[in-house]
Amino acid sequence: MKVVEQIKFPIREEMELFEKKFQEAMSSKVALLNRITYYIVNRKGKQMRPMFVFLVSKMISDGEVNDRTYRGAAVIELIHTATLVHDDVVDDSNRRRGFFSINALWKNKIAVLVGDYLLSKGLLLSIDHNDFDLLKIISVAVREMSEGELLQIEKARKLDITEEVYYEIIRQKTATLIAACCSLGACSVAPDSEHVEKMRKFGELIGMAFQIKDDLFDYTDGPIGKPTGIDIKEQKMTLPLIYTLNTCDKKEHDWLINSIKRHNKNSKRVKEVIDFVKQKGGLEYATSKMIDFQQEALQILSDYKDSPYKDSLELMVNYVIERKK
Ligand code: IPE
Ligand code: IPE
Ligand code: MG
Ligand code: MG
Repeated sequence: MKVVEQIKFPIREEMELFEKKFQEAMSSKVALLNRITYYIVNRKGKQMRPMFVFLVSKMISDGEVNDRTYRGAAVIELIHTATLVHDDVVDDSNRRRGFFSINALWKNKIAVLVGDYLLSKGLLLSIDHNDFDLLKIISVAVREMSEGELLQIEKARKLDITEEVYYEIIRQKTATLIAACCSLGACSVAPDSEHVEKMRKFGELIGMAFQIKDDLFDYTDGPIGKPTGIDIKEQKMTLPLIYTLNTCDKKEHDWLINSIKRHNKNSKRVKEVIDFVKQKGGLEYATSKMIDFQQEALQILSDYKDSPYKDSLELMVNYVIERKK
Protein backbone atom coordinates (compact mmCIF):
# COMPACT_ATOMS: atom_id res chain seq x y z
CA MET A 1 0.00 0.00 0.00
CA LYS A 2 1.26 3.49 -0.79
CA VAL A 3 1.88 5.65 2.26
CA VAL A 4 -0.99 8.03 1.50
CA GLU A 5 -3.41 5.10 1.26
CA GLN A 6 -2.01 3.75 4.49
CA ILE A 7 -2.56 7.11 6.20
CA LYS A 8 -6.11 7.33 4.89
CA PHE A 9 -7.06 3.76 5.74
CA PRO A 10 -8.57 4.44 9.21
CA ILE A 11 -10.51 7.45 7.85
CA ARG A 12 -11.42 6.17 4.37
CA GLU A 13 -15.18 6.31 4.98
CA GLU A 14 -14.99 9.78 6.47
CA MET A 15 -12.93 11.06 3.54
CA GLU A 16 -15.44 9.69 1.05
CA LEU A 17 -18.37 11.37 2.75
CA PHE A 18 -16.29 14.51 3.20
CA GLU A 19 -15.76 14.81 -0.56
CA LYS A 20 -19.49 14.78 -1.16
CA LYS A 21 -20.09 17.45 1.46
CA PHE A 22 -17.22 19.55 0.18
CA GLN A 23 -18.59 19.47 -3.34
CA GLU A 24 -22.13 20.32 -2.20
CA ALA A 25 -20.84 23.18 -0.12
CA MET A 26 -19.48 24.92 -3.24
CA SER A 27 -22.61 24.85 -5.37
CA SER A 28 -24.08 28.08 -6.68
CA LYS A 29 -26.89 29.24 -8.96
CA VAL A 30 -24.46 31.16 -11.13
CA ALA A 31 -23.40 29.02 -14.09
CA LEU A 32 -19.95 30.59 -14.41
CA LEU A 33 -19.22 29.90 -10.76
CA ASN A 34 -20.37 26.32 -11.10
CA ARG A 35 -18.10 25.83 -14.08
CA ILE A 36 -15.16 27.05 -12.06
CA THR A 37 -15.95 25.09 -8.89
CA TYR A 38 -16.43 22.00 -11.06
CA TYR A 39 -12.93 22.61 -12.39
CA ILE A 40 -11.60 22.99 -8.85
CA VAL A 41 -13.26 19.82 -7.54
CA ASN A 42 -11.83 17.84 -10.42
CA ARG A 43 -8.29 18.90 -9.64
CA LYS A 44 -8.24 18.22 -5.98
CA GLY A 45 -5.09 18.52 -3.93
CA LYS A 46 -3.63 16.21 -1.36
CA GLN A 47 -6.48 16.96 1.08
CA MET A 48 -4.09 16.88 3.99
CA ARG A 49 -6.11 19.35 6.03
CA PRO A 50 -9.32 17.29 6.22
CA MET A 51 -7.17 14.25 6.90
CA PHE A 52 -5.72 16.03 9.93
CA VAL A 53 -9.21 16.97 11.12
CA PHE A 54 -10.51 13.39 11.00
CA LEU A 55 -7.40 11.70 12.32
CA VAL A 56 -7.10 14.01 15.32
CA SER A 57 -10.80 13.75 16.05
CA LYS A 58 -10.67 9.95 15.99
CA MET A 59 -7.46 9.73 17.95
CA ILE A 60 -8.76 11.67 20.92
CA SER A 61 -12.25 10.16 20.96
CA ASP A 62 -11.48 6.50 20.25
CA GLY A 63 -12.80 6.60 16.73
CA GLU A 64 -15.67 9.02 16.98
CA VAL A 65 -16.53 11.78 14.53
CA ASN A 66 -19.76 13.75 14.25
CA ASP A 67 -21.47 16.22 11.93
CA ARG A 68 -19.43 19.04 13.38
CA THR A 69 -16.25 17.25 12.43
CA TYR A 70 -17.44 16.90 8.82
CA ARG A 71 -18.50 20.50 8.57
CA GLY A 72 -15.26 21.67 10.10
CA ALA A 73 -13.25 19.66 7.58
CA ALA A 74 -15.30 21.07 4.69
CA VAL A 75 -14.94 24.65 5.95
CA ILE A 76 -11.18 24.32 6.25
CA GLU A 77 -10.77 22.84 2.78
CA LEU A 78 -12.98 25.59 1.35
CA ILE A 79 -10.88 28.23 3.00
CA HIS A 80 -7.66 26.54 1.95
CA THR A 81 -8.92 26.44 -1.65
CA ALA A 82 -9.91 30.10 -1.47
CA THR A 83 -6.45 31.10 -0.27
CA LEU A 84 -4.75 29.13 -3.04
CA VAL A 85 -6.93 30.81 -5.68
CA HIS A 86 -5.97 34.19 -4.23
CA ASP A 87 -2.35 33.19 -3.67
CA ASP A 88 -1.86 32.45 -7.36
CA VAL A 89 -3.10 35.95 -8.18
CA VAL A 90 -0.80 37.47 -5.56
CA ASP A 91 2.18 35.39 -6.74
CA ASP A 92 1.31 35.75 -10.41
CA SER A 93 1.52 31.99 -10.79
CA ASN A 94 -0.06 30.18 -13.72
CA ARG A 95 0.00 26.59 -12.47
CA ARG A 96 -1.61 24.76 -9.59
CA ARG A 97 -2.08 21.04 -8.93
CA GLY A 98 -0.50 20.12 -12.22
CA PHE A 99 -2.75 22.27 -14.35
CA PHE A 100 -3.61 25.89 -15.08
CA SER A 101 -4.43 28.11 -12.12
CA ILE A 102 -7.80 29.89 -11.99
CA ASN A 103 -6.19 33.24 -12.79
CA ALA A 104 -4.40 31.70 -15.77
CA LEU A 105 -7.68 30.46 -17.23
CA TRP A 106 -10.20 33.11 -16.14
CA LYS A 107 -7.99 36.11 -15.24
CA ASN A 108 -7.36 37.85 -11.94
CA LYS A 109 -10.76 39.55 -11.70
CA ILE A 110 -12.61 36.28 -11.65
CA ALA A 111 -10.06 34.53 -9.44
CA VAL A 112 -10.41 37.21 -6.75
CA LEU A 113 -14.19 36.92 -6.78
CA VAL A 114 -14.16 33.12 -6.76
CA GLY A 115 -11.78 33.16 -3.79
CA ASP A 116 -14.14 35.46 -1.90
CA TYR A 117 -17.08 33.24 -2.77
CA LEU A 118 -15.35 30.13 -1.44
CA LEU A 119 -14.32 31.93 1.73
CA SER A 120 -17.85 33.15 2.41
CA LYS A 121 -19.36 29.72 1.66
CA GLY A 122 -16.95 28.25 4.18
CA LEU A 123 -17.80 30.71 6.92
CA LEU A 124 -21.54 30.33 6.28
CA LEU A 125 -21.35 26.57 6.60
CA SER A 126 -20.25 27.06 10.20
CA ILE A 127 -22.68 29.88 10.92
CA ASP A 128 -25.72 28.10 9.50
CA HIS A 129 -25.14 25.24 11.94
CA ASN A 130 -24.20 27.33 14.97
CA ASP A 131 -20.70 25.85 15.10
CA PHE A 132 -19.42 29.05 16.71
CA ASP A 133 -16.61 27.45 18.66
CA LEU A 134 -15.25 25.97 15.44
CA LEU A 135 -15.86 29.20 13.57
CA LYS A 136 -13.74 31.05 16.10
CA ILE A 137 -10.81 28.67 15.55
CA ILE A 138 -11.17 29.06 11.79
CA SER A 139 -11.56 32.83 11.81
CA VAL A 140 -8.36 33.30 13.80
CA ALA A 141 -6.56 31.27 11.14
CA VAL A 142 -8.09 33.32 8.31
CA ARG A 143 -6.97 36.57 9.92
CA GLU A 144 -3.48 35.27 10.54
CA MET A 145 -3.11 33.99 6.99
CA SER A 146 -3.81 37.45 5.58
CA GLU A 147 -1.42 39.02 8.05
CA GLY A 148 1.27 36.50 7.18
CA GLU A 149 0.95 37.16 3.45
CA LEU A 150 1.17 40.91 4.03
CA LEU A 151 4.15 40.59 6.35
CA GLN A 152 5.80 38.55 3.61
CA ILE A 153 5.19 41.29 1.07
CA GLU A 154 6.48 43.94 3.46
CA LYS A 155 9.68 41.98 3.95
CA ALA A 156 10.03 41.28 0.23
CA ARG A 157 9.99 45.04 -0.34
CA LYS A 158 12.61 45.84 2.26
CA LEU A 159 14.72 42.71 1.75
CA ASP A 160 15.63 42.74 5.43
CA ILE A 161 14.11 39.50 6.62
CA THR A 162 15.62 37.62 9.55
CA GLU A 163 15.22 33.95 10.38
CA GLU A 164 12.86 34.88 13.23
CA VAL A 165 10.63 36.92 10.96
CA TYR A 166 10.62 34.09 8.41
CA TYR A 167 9.27 31.74 11.08
CA GLU A 168 6.63 34.28 11.99
CA ILE A 169 5.56 34.57 8.34
CA ILE A 170 5.24 30.84 7.79
CA ARG A 171 3.56 30.36 11.15
CA GLN A 172 0.91 32.87 10.14
CA LYS A 173 0.44 32.08 6.49
CA THR A 174 0.55 28.28 6.66
CA ALA A 175 0.97 26.79 10.13
CA THR A 176 -2.10 28.44 11.67
CA LEU A 177 -4.45 26.74 9.22
CA ILE A 178 -2.99 23.31 9.94
CA ALA A 179 -3.09 24.18 13.65
CA ALA A 180 -6.77 25.04 13.15
CA CYS A 181 -7.38 21.62 11.52
CA CYS A 182 -6.00 19.80 14.51
CA SER A 183 -7.59 21.92 17.23
CA LEU A 184 -10.90 21.87 15.36
CA GLY A 185 -10.71 18.09 15.04
CA ALA A 186 -10.29 17.92 18.81
CA CYS A 187 -12.90 20.60 19.55
CA SER A 188 -15.54 18.90 17.39
CA VAL A 189 -15.59 15.85 19.66
CA ALA A 190 -14.16 17.18 22.94
CA PRO A 191 -14.95 20.89 23.30
CA ASP A 192 -13.25 22.62 26.23
CA SER A 193 -10.82 19.76 26.76
CA GLU A 194 -7.07 20.17 27.11
CA HIS A 195 -6.70 18.40 23.74
CA VAL A 196 -7.86 21.47 21.85
CA GLU A 197 -4.76 23.50 22.74
CA LYS A 198 -2.43 20.52 22.65
CA MET A 199 -3.52 19.60 19.14
CA ARG A 200 -3.32 23.23 18.04
CA LYS A 201 0.34 23.23 19.00
CA PHE A 202 0.86 19.89 17.27
CA GLY A 203 -0.65 21.24 14.05
CA GLU A 204 1.36 24.42 14.26
CA LEU A 205 4.64 22.53 14.47
CA ILE A 206 3.70 20.33 11.54
CA GLY A 207 2.60 23.37 9.60
CA MET A 208 6.01 24.96 10.09
CA ALA A 209 7.74 21.85 8.76
CA PHE A 210 5.21 21.75 5.91
CA GLN A 211 6.00 25.27 4.69
CA ILE A 212 9.76 24.81 5.00
CA LYS A 213 9.33 21.75 2.77
CA ASP A 214 7.26 23.80 0.34
CA ASP A 215 9.96 26.46 0.25
CA LEU A 216 12.60 23.80 -0.38
CA PHE A 217 10.59 22.60 -3.39
CA ASP A 218 11.11 26.00 -4.96
CA TYR A 219 14.85 25.21 -5.13
CA THR A 220 14.26 21.96 -7.00
CA ASP A 221 13.30 21.25 -10.59
CA GLY A 222 9.98 19.66 -9.72
CA PRO A 223 7.71 18.35 -11.12
CA ILE A 224 5.48 19.22 -8.17
CA GLY A 225 2.41 20.50 -10.02
CA LYS A 226 3.22 24.19 -9.60
CA PRO A 227 6.11 26.38 -10.79
CA THR A 228 9.50 26.21 -9.09
CA GLY A 229 12.15 28.91 -8.93
CA ILE A 230 9.52 31.64 -8.60
CA ASP A 231 10.20 32.74 -5.04
CA ILE A 232 13.28 34.77 -5.94
CA LYS A 233 11.47 36.21 -8.97
CA GLU A 234 8.80 37.38 -6.52
CA GLN A 235 11.53 38.61 -4.14
CA LYS A 236 10.32 36.12 -1.57
CA MET A 237 13.17 35.26 0.77
CA THR A 238 12.88 31.84 2.32
CA LEU A 239 15.02 29.92 4.78
CA PRO A 240 17.72 28.55 2.41
CA LEU A 241 18.39 32.07 1.16
CA ILE A 242 18.19 33.70 4.59
CA TYR A 243 20.74 31.23 5.92
CA THR A 244 23.03 31.92 2.96
CA LEU A 245 22.78 35.68 3.47
CA ASN A 246 23.67 35.21 7.13
CA THR A 247 26.71 33.07 6.47
CA CYS A 248 28.36 34.47 3.33
CA ASP A 249 30.92 37.31 3.18
CA LYS A 250 30.07 40.95 2.48
CA LYS A 251 30.83 40.85 -1.24
CA GLU A 252 28.65 37.77 -1.73
CA HIS A 253 25.95 39.36 0.42
CA ASP A 254 25.90 42.48 -1.73
CA TRP A 255 25.77 40.37 -4.89
CA LEU A 256 22.84 38.37 -3.51
CA ILE A 257 20.84 41.39 -2.42
CA ASN A 258 21.55 43.15 -5.68
CA SER A 259 20.43 40.06 -7.62
CA ILE A 260 17.15 39.91 -5.74
CA LYS A 261 16.57 43.64 -5.84
CA ARG A 262 17.43 44.42 -9.43
CA HIS A 263 17.82 41.18 -11.39
CA ASN A 264 14.97 39.09 -10.00
CA LYS A 265 13.29 38.75 -13.40
CA ASN A 266 16.50 37.61 -15.09
CA SER A 267 16.26 33.81 -15.26
CA LYS A 268 20.01 33.28 -15.67
CA ARG A 269 20.79 35.40 -12.62
CA VAL A 270 18.06 33.70 -10.56
CA LYS A 271 19.57 30.34 -11.49
CA GLU A 272 22.97 31.59 -10.28
CA VAL A 273 21.46 32.65 -6.97
CA ILE A 274 19.80 29.25 -6.59
CA ASP A 275 23.10 27.49 -7.34
CA PHE A 276 24.94 29.70 -4.87
CA VAL A 277 22.43 28.95 -2.11
CA LYS A 278 22.81 25.23 -2.82
CA GLN A 279 26.57 25.45 -2.77
CA LYS A 280 26.50 27.26 0.58
CA GLY A 281 24.46 24.50 2.22
CA GLY A 282 21.22 26.50 2.42
CA LEU A 283 19.08 23.48 1.60
CA GLU A 284 20.74 21.30 4.25
CA TYR A 285 20.25 24.01 6.85
CA ALA A 286 16.55 24.44 6.04
CA THR A 287 16.12 20.67 6.04
CA SER A 288 17.62 20.40 9.52
CA LYS A 289 15.26 23.08 10.84
CA MET A 290 12.33 21.32 9.22
CA ILE A 291 13.30 18.11 11.01
CA ASP A 292 13.49 19.97 14.34
CA PHE A 293 9.85 21.06 13.96
CA GLN A 294 8.83 17.57 12.89
CA GLN A 295 10.49 16.00 15.93
CA GLU A 296 8.82 18.45 18.27
CA ALA A 297 5.45 17.51 16.75
CA LEU A 298 6.14 13.79 17.18
CA GLN A 299 6.96 14.47 20.81
CA ILE A 300 3.44 15.81 21.42
CA LEU A 301 1.90 12.74 19.78
CA SER A 302 3.89 10.44 22.02
CA ASP A 303 1.65 11.42 24.97
CA TYR A 304 -1.33 9.73 23.32
CA LYS A 305 -2.14 6.07 23.61
CA ASP A 306 -1.51 3.83 20.63
CA SER A 307 -4.25 3.53 18.01
CA PRO A 308 -4.53 3.23 14.23
CA TYR A 309 -5.28 6.98 14.17
CA LYS A 310 -2.13 7.84 16.03
CA ASP A 311 -0.16 5.57 13.69
CA SER A 312 -1.60 7.44 10.72
CA LEU A 313 -0.79 10.81 12.27
CA GLU A 314 2.79 9.69 12.76
CA LEU A 315 2.96 8.61 9.13
CA MET A 316 1.45 11.94 8.17
CA VAL A 317 4.09 13.85 10.13
CA ASN A 318 6.76 11.98 8.21
CA TYR A 319 4.93 12.37 4.92
CA VAL A 320 4.92 16.15 5.35
CA ILE A 321 8.70 16.25 5.13
CA GLU A 322 9.22 13.36 2.71
CA ARG A 323 6.47 14.12 0.19
CA LYS A 324 7.29 14.59 -3.49
CA LYS A 325 4.64 17.25 -4.17
C1 IPE B 1 -0.17 24.53 -0.62
O1 IPE B 1 -0.78 23.61 0.23
C2 IPE B 1 -0.08 25.85 0.03
C3 IPE B 1 0.87 25.91 1.12
C4 IPE B 1 0.50 26.24 2.32
C5 IPE B 1 2.27 25.64 0.87
P1 IPE B 1 -0.93 22.10 -0.20
O2 IPE B 1 0.40 21.58 -0.67
O3 IPE B 1 -1.57 21.34 0.90
O4 IPE B 1 -1.90 22.20 -1.42
P2 IPE B 1 -2.84 21.12 -2.13
O5 IPE B 1 -4.21 21.32 -1.54
O6 IPE B 1 -2.31 19.75 -1.88
O7 IPE B 1 -2.80 21.50 -3.58
C1 IPE C 1 0.93 29.33 0.25
O1 IPE C 1 1.89 30.24 0.05
C2 IPE C 1 -0.42 29.96 0.28
C3 IPE C 1 -0.83 30.35 1.62
C4 IPE C 1 -0.36 29.81 2.69
C5 IPE C 1 -1.84 31.41 1.75
P1 IPE C 1 2.98 30.03 -1.11
O2 IPE C 1 2.80 31.05 -2.15
O3 IPE C 1 4.29 29.93 -0.42
O4 IPE C 1 2.60 28.58 -1.63
P2 IPE C 1 2.57 27.95 -3.08
O5 IPE C 1 3.96 27.46 -3.28
O6 IPE C 1 2.12 28.96 -4.06
O7 IPE C 1 1.60 26.80 -2.94
MG1 MG D 1 2.30 33.09 -1.87
MG1 MG E 1 2.26 30.92 -4.18
